[in-house]
Amino acid sequence: MAYNSTLAGPTGSVITRTSRVHIKFTLNGEPVETRLKSGDRLLVDVLREDLQLTGTKHGCGIGACGTCTVIVDGLPVASCLQLAALIDGADVRTVEGLAGASSLHVVQQAFINQAAMQCGICTPGHVMAACALLEKTPAPTDEEIRTSVESVYCRCTGYVRIEEAYREAVALARKARP
Ligand code: FES
Ligand code: FES
Repeated sequence: MAYNSTLAGPTGSVITRTSRVHIKFTLNGEPVETRLKSGDRLLVDVLREDLQLTGTKHGCGIGACGTCTVIVDGLPVASCLQLAALIDGADVRTVEGLAGASSLHVVQQAFINQAAMQCGICTPGHVMAACALLEKTPAPTDEEIRTSVESVYCRCTGYVRIEEAYREAVALARKARP
């Protein structure tokens, strides 16, 4: 989006770069209200800088690496491309919201069990991408797993352990179902 563009914001208002938009949304199950410093604030920056949720990482900034993946209304979203102003009314989930009071999310547990943790930059993105896939597709095919894994880049090592973690998460979730 060019800086001087305008677009419709919450309640039909017009957002420009200089707008100080007030937004309300749900973040990890809790209601949140915040006033954006400018209309072009990105969700990743609002999460990390304004709301101190630094689990979501700012990698490439162009929607290519997946480290900034969060779940918005059930779908994986690159928060580095998401205007925060348009999050008004949405349900946003980050890696900080996954674990319960006394146990990890099955995806987190599966990553530990399979030693699939990588660095602190890409791992949160991988975990969120896995959660998004498994919530929509509880029994994904190998191809669906591979496509999801490949949405988060790592140039340091391979994806084999991560793919195994997806499979283990499927099994753990199945076991946990009544
Ligand atoms: S930082 Fe968002 S995709 Fe790379
Ligand atoms: S980018 Fe995280 S281990 Fe390679």
